[in-house]
Amino acid sequence: MGQWTSAVGSPQLARLLGSQHARAATTPGGRRVPAYRSLADGVRLLVLEGRVPVAARLPAERELAAALAVSRTTVAAAYEALRGEGFLESRRGAGSWTSVPAGKPLPTRGLDPLPPETAASVIDLGCAALPAPEPWLTRAFQGALEELPPYAHTHGDFPAGLPVLREAIADRYTARGIPTMPEQIMVTTGAMGAVAAICRLIAGHGERVAVESPSYANVLQLMRETGARLVPVAMADALAGWDLPAWRQVLRDAAPRMAYVVADFHNPTGALAPEEQRRRLVEAARSAGTVLVADETMSELCLDPGIERPRPVCAFDPAGSAVITVGSVSKSFWAGLRIGWVRAAPDVIRSLVAARAYADLGTPVLEQLAVTWLLTTEGWDESADLRRAQARENRDALVAAVRRHLPDWEFAVPHGGLTLWTRTGGLSGSRIAEAGERLGVRVPSGPRFGVDGAFEGYVRLPFTVAGPVAEEAAVRLAAATRLVATGATAEAETPRSYVA
Ligand SMILES: Cc1ncc(COP(=O)(O)O)c(C=O)c1O
Repeated sequence: MGQWTSAVGSPQLARLLGSQHARAATTPGGRRVPAYRSLADGVRLLVLEGRVPVAARLPAERELAAALAVSRTTVAAAYEALRGEGFLESRRGAGSWTSVPAGKPLPTRGLDPLPPETAASVIDLGCAALPAPEPWLTRAFQGALEELPPYAHTHGDFPAGLPVLREAIADRYTARGIPTMPEQIMVTTGAMGAVAAICRLIAGHGERVAVESPSYANVLQLMRETGARLVPVAMADALAGWDLPAWRQVLRDAAPRMAYVVADFHNPTGALAPEEQRRRLVEAARSAGTVLVADETMSELCLDPGIERPRPVCAFDPAGSAVITVGSVSKSFWAGLRIGWVRAAPDVIRSLVAARAYADLGTPVLEQLAVTWLLTTEGWDESADLRRAQARENRDALVAAVRRHLPDWEFAVPHGGLTLWTRTGGLSGSRIAEAGERLGVRVPSGPRFGVDGAFEGYVRLPFTVAGPVAEEAAVRLAAATRLVATGATAEAETPRSYVA
């Protein structure tokens, strides 16, 4: 497969630069900021925020100068400054590509579990998952135990999932208006098990996979580890869903084997892709020959009444040959069950079942029976209501606490999901996360959700705490932020302000 790098045309770069917050035209000392500096800062910020991918080819100096109506010298000086700061690499005659400064560690791995001695005192905002909505977990297992005896006489291996659960999941899609047969469902070990099986089947070593930028950190890491080559596509601003022109360009130019998207209350931004975007993305993926994987893990977590819910992405490919849907009970019910699923065409399901055999063979029977009980009783809807109420309360408490204690942090409050994606007032999210860990609050920093070091100026906060705990988390984060702003971090490192 040939090397593919994304390219940012001069009209697109001009548009992205124009959409940035107006930057101060003078320094704090009252001197004018030179035009080249302001351009270099703008490009640097676009890279750090993932709006322009790392390793993207930038326009030639002359072209960009014309698009921005500045002199070529200004663009040349800006490129020179970016090269000096490690944000650009150029090869004579070949062009210039965005980069991130060498030596900056890319924190791509997940968060390690907290050691037991600190777990009690640290507010852990690392994981976007809530405790079980009792009494429904207990009831579901009581129901499951009653159904267990006939299974005890079997070998217990069901690589595609228990027939009763496949049917119950299929029926839910049918009830949502997308007729589905049990043969179109495979039960997996969480959504992660589903994506792992899909990657093993479709997006192995060296295959290109287009991903939203930012995207769900663990899936990005899973794909890196399976050897896929990630092609990031920036999300639209302000929770508006996808940037369709950017998607069309990537699907056309990079022809990725697969694309992975979270249309419903995206993790980490919380964006909800409108229905028309869904239709168009499916069309674009189909004509590019790209398999579109739509992860619906967050889809039940609509937190505000009156929000119009678009149809699922698979509504635009009900047969499931172009769109593979991933679902899970982890967010709508409880992550401890480790139950997820795939919805696709029966032949795709058969291949996935074969692909998963070499990973985990199947999913525990009792947990599958518990989910079957939930889906076939009032348990699913009632527990999901509890879940939404809890997440809503947590979201509102967190938003209020962050606004009170961190007035420089900027975010758009999502209508659903479990996460707040926030800009950290121009300071490094990684440094704040480091300082926070020492001050008793753990948050994942932005680059975990990006490709190649983007999103340094962000952290992700989950809707998992409320009341005084949310307040205290914000107080500790504010203290961490002050440490970073004053340069008093452990390594006594000069804080890096990423916003001009
Ligand atoms: C979009 C998305 N997909 C998948 C997962 C993981 O799901 P599971 O626990 O079912 O493996 C999460 C969890 O945060 C998620 O947000």
